Amino acid sequence: MLVNPALKIGMMILVIGFSSKPSSASDKPWLNDENHTQQDIFISNGILSENELRDFTQRGFGLFTKKFTTRDGVGRPMATQAIIPTKRKQPAVNMFSRITGLDANSCASCHNEPIIGGAGNFSTNVFVSEGFTSQGSDSTDPQFSNERNTNHLMGVGLVELLAREMTLELHTIRSKAIRDAKKYSRAEPAVLITKGVRFGTLTAYPDGLVDISRIVGIDDDLVIRPFSQKGVITSIRQFTINALNSHSGIQATERFGVRWTGNSDFDEDGAASEFSPNEISALVAWQATLPPPTRLNVSNIRWRAAASQGEIKFNSIGCSSCHQKYLPLDSLMFSDPGQMDVAGTIRPGENGSELVYNLELLEWAKKLPKNELGQTLVPLFGDLKRYNMVDAEVSIFGNELISQRFVERGVFMTAELWGIASTAPYGHRGDITTLDEVIKAHGGESRNSRDNYVALSNGERDSIIAFLKTLVIEE
Ligand code: HEC
Ligand code: HEC
Repeated sequence: MLVNPALKIGMMILVIGFSSKPSSASDKPWLNDENHTQQDIFISNGILSENELRDFTQRGFGLFTKKFTTRDGVGRPMATQAIIPTKRKQPAVNMFSRITGLDANSCASCHNEPIIGGAGNFSTNVFVSEGFTSQGSDSTDPQFSNERNTNHLMGVGLVELLAREMTLELHTIRSKAIRDAKKYSRAEPAVLITKGVRFGTLTAYPDGLVDISRIVGIDDDLVIRPFSQKGVITSIRQFTINALNSHSGIQATERFGVRWTGNSDFDEDGAASEFSPNEISALVAWQATLPPPTRLNVSNIRWRAAASQGEIKFNSIGCSSCHQKYLPLDSLMFSDPGQMDVAGTIRPGENGSELVYNLELLEWAKKLPKNELGQTLVPLFGDLKRYNMVDAEVSIFGNELISQRFVERGVFMTAELWGIASTAPYGHRGDITTLDEVIKAHGGESRNSRDNYVALSNGERDSIIAFLKTLVIEE
């Protein structure tokens, strides 16, 4: 069910408390970092105050940077990295494996450039696959998995809020078309446009059926899935639970616990109930409140002039048709779980565990520009839409052999360019070393603007790079 978060606030009761589990921490301080569950903050159904949000995100930061150990539940000898709980046929030969995981000790092992929560080098690449059922796959050959580079997490809370509002608007358009088709007994076409981004059209019929064959750039269910470079993951919460299992073999109770698997130790590593919903919420809160990237205040006069010229060119040759400077956001209230969290995570209202926090409380949010409608302008240089990036001549992005979630192999979500100056290398595989090269790699639906770029003079191309180099993650 889709509910406006602002409406829910009134319905909520705040219950917040701190509880220390019996632990060895006090008498054995050298064991302090051994187990993440030693001190839990229990929060249920509530709107967090500024202080509570600060405490909670601090705890999330601790979990994001913690080098997890077997006492935290590291290891999944009898389970794979798959998103849906999947058993192995035989126990894993090695606990760590660069290909099938475990491939890291902490989230910050990969997301750390130029700061924690940032992107990662080629050496942090991940081999994404829907799930090997045995340890058999130890090959990096693209026929077994898709190799992806670590992208940064700055501003992801805003991205998820944008995606939720866009989804809600698209669903409203669809509902209205169905209603009108019934009411007037005729085929009712509708243009799918939200926040200025077009997702094709649909036609509703009086019997309630909908022709979805002309929907583009989004799944047919009209849910924007803003995460992963493929654009196939719905929420920070979903991604976090995937990542904990895949990278560290830590299985969140809300997905791998008794309710869905009949087992409190699904991965058979001897640790039960490894990560509570509350701890997931803390990890989500830290990520969702990360400040977005900013613009470098360039002091060099020649650079400044080139960058402002470059930004004009960037718009005029068609780059900004996908890499849109701003998308407008109505509300900065972040609810977790969100309205789109319907599978593989706790759902809104379940377990009495829904949190709401206002990103507007954060210093960085106060600096974001607003438009005349009072909407916050999120400067992401993206549009949360997927495009085909490959054609017969320009096919560098066509390097994946396995379609993830049945999205065509050459199709990717527009990369958000905020922070691009701080996150080399480039491209979804992180195998492109310069901005000039990654721009020239644009084929398919981006071919026109790429050809416009190639046709520019050296100086003009340079100015576009000068502009992109101002989109930084503040250190
Ligand atoms: C081994 C490296 C590695 C580790 C460890 C890692 N990540 Fe990631 N992360 C990635 C890669 C690679 C991607 C991009 C995946 C893709 O595009 O398919 C990513 C993407 C993400 C995204 C989506 C960002 C976006 O804008 O699309 C989130 C959220 C995320 N990671 C959270 C986490 C959390 C939370 C942890 C710890 C539990 C974690 N990651 C641990 C490599 C890593
Ligand atoms: C049709 C939509 C579209 C247009 C037009 C487009 N891009 Fe892109 N851009 C994308 C997509 C999708 C990606 C992600 C490609 C990948 O890595 O799979 C991307 C990636 C990039 C990247 C690399 C991002 C990263 O994190 O590695 C840069 C830089 C970039 N684009 C700049 C440009 C410039 C400059 C132009 C104009 C010449 C342009 N783009 C035109 C869709 C577009």
